Amino acid sequence: MPTPDPFSGYVNDVTFPDRFHRELSPAWLTYASVLGGARPKDLGKPFRYLDLGCGFAHSTVINAASFAHAEFHACDVNPAHIDAARRRAARLGIGNVVFHEASFEALLDKDLPPFDFIVMHGIYSWVDAGVRRTVRQLISRQLADEGLVYLSYNCQPGWSAEAPLRKLMLELTQAADGGIEARAASAIAGMRTLGNPSFRYFRDNPHTIHALQALVDSPVDYLAHEYLNRAWEVHYSVDVLDEMEAAGLAYAGSATLADNHPALLMDRQAAEAIAALPNARLRHLAEDFAANRRFRRDVFVRDAQASQTRQTPAQALRHLEQTAIGCATDIEQIDARVTIPRGALSFQAEFIADLRGLMRQGAMPVGEIVARLGANSRNRREILQNLLFLVASGTLTPFAHAGGYDETGPRRASSPACAAALACGADEGASTFVPCETLGNGLAVSTEEAEQARRWIAGEAIPVPGRLARLGVLRGA
Ligand SMILES: C[S@@+](CC[C@H](N)C(=O)[O-])C[C@H]1O[C@@H](n2cnc3c(N)ncnc32)[C@H](O)[C@@H]1O
Repeated sequence: MPTPDPFSGYVNDVTFPDRFHRELSPAWLTYASVLGGARPKDLGKPFRYLDLGCGFAHSTVINAASFAHAEFHACDVNPAHIDAARRRAARLGIGNVVFHEASFEALLDKDLPPFDFIVMHGIYSWVDAGVRRTVRQLISRQLADEGLVYLSYNCQPGWSAEAPLRKLMLELTQAADGGIEARAASAIAGMRTLGNPSFRYFRDNPHTIHALQALVDSPVDYLAHEYLNRAWEVHYSVDVLDEMEAAGLAYAGSATLADNHPALLMDRQAAEAIAALPNARLRHLAEDFAANRRFRRDVFVRDAQASQTRQTPAQALRHLEQTAIGCATDIEQIDARVTIPRGALSFQAEFIADLRGLMRQGAMPVGEIVARLGANSRNRREILQNLLFLVASGTLTPFAHAGGYDETGPRRASSPACAAALACGADEGASTFVPCETLGNGLAVSTEEAEQARRWIAGEAIPVPGRLARLGVLRGA
């Protein structure tokens, strides 16, 4: 009898690129779910978080350092991934991540606690139906009541023209000799030869020429994990809804924040046609067609009865108003014109000037920002909508809690993990993600900023790096 493959046909002879995903933060997921009407999580209290198929667990390790009072678990079947993740955690000196070098199947047999968050980025479309079933069993068994699940996947109709490229790439790889890198390189060469308008597929689908070029330009490790697993499935969002519903979950919103605001995605005609559809399920599917969506970052909540439908609209609004948002970049980057999926959006210059002034003080609850900007006889509903659109566009960001610069005490980084991350950034000469407790997420910090922070902490007579002080990464006088 053949031995069962612990990888279930998933690529394991090349590691996945080491990437940070801001959408995996507990603060970000809480914001997305509160926007959808779920009750907020109290992130100041202990909670548990599980990352399934964590890869290098970059985001999970940084999030664990940002929430030192919480317990994180990270699982991956590839030993090289877990090794690298353990090394990063050791470098930051954090002890609140439990690593599981295991397949999801093997994880099912472990004695695990209930989790308030379960995240899976880049898994669901790239594993077979049996593994997806195991993942749903894990969720069904391990997700706490009112717990949140983050699930990303490739969806239709956005892949309808390009999906055949994956089949071509896979078959070319299988026909080549050597290790995975050599076979992928050979497949790329084959794709180059075939990818021209003499082939009617490319003529009839001109966009696929660009897709093929992007594919050819991608690093081999990314290509292997995106296209060369035994399974590759592009889902319809409503089928995923059904599967999650069977596991006891309801859709709560999207971690691609703009996707929560139809006005940012489609014109009025499309919005009216969708609004006229007879049920929420059809509207959910039709939105994918309106946006020609190809990738989703869905957030689900356990037991909609308890968390969502029991809330009145007034309660949902109050929870949203209590949620903190702020500016994680330079304040000057809060611009009167922002990019949104269907183009650009403009705000009044005076509104933006007032908002900048407020955001210099640090992150604040949405309701407080509305109240303070509303003092100028502005319409509060419009202010709220503007703020949500600014978050959706990436100008503002969800925060774990409100807060500004704490000037008390000696100069220091907010935690030893934060100091270690800043030192890595300065030493390695590359931008890095630094744990930020106020943000409840990793903060992108350039080498120059990390170096300046180090010199400031060491007592040099230089100004405190303003952004890092405002975000509570640096403290002291
Ligand atoms: C595309 S990578 C995504 C990694 C990470 N979530 C990220 O976004 O950076 C998919 C990961 O799932 C892991 N994986 C695939 N099948 C698995 C299984 N059956 N059990 C556990 N891990 C699995 C792979 O080893 C790989 O690290």
